[in-house]
Amino acid sequence: MSIAYLNGEFLNLEQATVPVLDRGFLFGDGVYEVIPVYAGKPFRFSNHINRLHKSLDAILMSFEQTEQAWLKICQELIERNDFDNASIYLQVTRGSYINRHHDIPELDKPTVMAMISPLPPVQKDWQVADIKCYSVITEEDIRWQRCDIKAITLLANCMLKQKALESGADDTILVRNGEANEATSSNLFIVRDGVMITPPLSEQLLAGVTREFILALARKNGIRYEERPIPEHELELADEIWLSSSTKEIRPVVKVNGVIIGDGVAGPVWRRMYVYYQQLKEQLYQGEISGEVKL
Ligand code: PDD
Repeated sequence: MSIAYLNGEFLNLEQATVPVLDRGFLFGDGVYEVIPVYAGKPFRFSNHINRLHKSLDAILMSFEQTEQAWLKICQELIERNDFDNASIYLQVTRGSYINRHHDIPELDKPTVMAMISPLPPVQKDWQVADIKCYSVITEEDIRWQRCDIKAITLLANCMLKQKALESGADDTILVRNGEANEATSSNLFIVRDGVMITPPLSEQLLAGVTREFILALARKNGIRYEERPIPEHELELADEIWLSSSTKEIRPVVKVNGVIIGDGVAGPVWRRMYVYYQQLKEQLYQGEISGEVKL
C-alpha cells in the first residue's frame, strides 16, 4: 500500500481519512493538481504549483504555502514510496467547520492531502506502435462556467467520460456554443495542413501545463500553431487530433463519432511532437536537465 500525506503527516493511504464535515466532502469545496514524476523528479513543478495557487485564489481561499514547502512534501512522498515514474495527486479543501453552511467561513482551516500512484515506465525506444490511439465522441459540455479552476467537483466530467465508455469510445470532447473546448480530463489539439490548432485559454477550459509545454515545444522546433476556437464540425476535417494531459502526455485520436480522422493512425505532426517530448524526458533521465525543463 502506498504512503500518503495528510495535514502534516505521512501515513498509509487507507488510514488517511477526513471528517464528514470537511467542505470538500460536503460541497466539493476544494482544488487539486496532478503532477507527473519522471526519474523521481516532479515535471514542470512550478507550473503546477502556480496553477494551484491560481485555483486557490479563484475559490477565495487564502492558503499561504511556498513552492518550496510543496516541493518538500512531494519529494518526501516520492522517496517514501520509492517510485521512479509516478503521478502525484495534491488536493486542498477548505476543511471542516461545525455546521454545514453555504457561506464561506472567514477562517481558513485547509485540509491538505497528497497521494502518489505509479505511471508506466518511460519507453526508451519510443515505439510509436505501442501508443494507444483514442476513439472519442462529442457531447454538449454540461459543466459549470469556471472550467479554468481545477476544482475537485468533477461529477459532470465523470458522467461525460462514462457516456464515451458506454458507446465503446475512450473519451468525450466537450462542446459549448458549437465550439470544441477540451476533453473530460485533457486539452484538445487538432492539426490542419501542418498547423497545430488549440482553443485559446478562457473560463471554458483548463490551462493545461502539458498544453503550454506542447506550445513551447512547437515554438522551439518550428511547428506552426494557432490558438483559436475550433468549431465542432472542424474536428472531422482535421488531419490529426490529439488530447494532452500530465498523465496522458499527448494522445492521438483517430476516430470522432465513428468518423475516421486523417489516415486513422497517429499522424506525422503528432509523431514529431511525441519524439521531442520523449527526448526531453530522456535528458531528464540522464540528469542533463532539471524537472522544470526550461525551453
Ligand atoms: N486532468 N482539462 C481538464 C478538464 C483536465 O482535467 C486536465 C488534467 C487537463 C490537462 O491539464 P494538464 O496538462 O495540466 O494535466 C485539461 C488531470 C490529469 C486529472 O484530472 O487527472
